[in-house]
Amino acid sequence: MPAPKKARPGTRTPRERVRVLITGARIHKRIQALAREIRKDFPGEPLHLISVLKGGVFFLTDLARSIPGEVSFDFIAVSSYGQKTHSSGQVRLTRDLDSSIEGKTVIVVEDILDTGMTLRYLLRLFQQRKPKHLRVAVLLDKPERRIAAVRADYVGFSIPNEFVVGYGLDYAERYRNLPYVGILVLGPGLKKKPAED
Ligand code: IMP
Ligand code: MG
Repeated sequence: MPAPKKARPGTRTPRERVRVLITGARIHKRIQALAREIRKDFPGEPLHLISVLKGGVFFLTDLARSIPGEVSFDFIAVSSYGQKTHSSGQVRLTRDLDSSIEGKTVIVVEDILDTGMTLRYLLRLFQQRKPKHLRVAVLLDKPERRIAAVRADYVGFSIPNEFVVGYGLDYAERYRNLPYVGILVLGPGLKKKPAED
């Protein structure tokens, strides 16, 4: 019989783990409600959803499939620069839209509203292109972190000031594929990377 396993000295403690904050089922239910709300606000109008790559992609695909009637969508990508510890003030466009938004009812679909710098940049950019209406839908809102005076018209969940991953949100490109949103818990001595993209 093999000897019982002993805990080896220096056995690694997990470097990081994810604690579930919002289950996939709650996300799904909330998105159905948001979709109904959006359609109620713009009955019978074609809606043009714009997702911010890459974090907003799952939210967009679920939202788009839940809104009845005519819906089209497009993608944009930005990156932020500056201080390393948080998503900084400087935002740069890395991928523009495929089509014009002039005269369209546009809903910007973002994963999370944090400092608000990204959305402030995008809203200014889109406003110049003369959409008929411009609205913002975010899955998550961290109101405590706000620097720019931006508010979302549709909010999935307001969350505390914690670094979250899953359902599109990443930590160094990992965890985007989790079907839920969780708080990233780092082991001792590890620092969180900048919140980017
Ligand atoms: P803002 O410009 O500070 O509002 O930041 C928006 C972007 O930062 C989001 O689109 C995310 O990509 C990223 N971000 C902010 N908070 C988190 C987080 O808790 N986890 C992962 N990414 C985040
Ligand atoms: Mg993002």
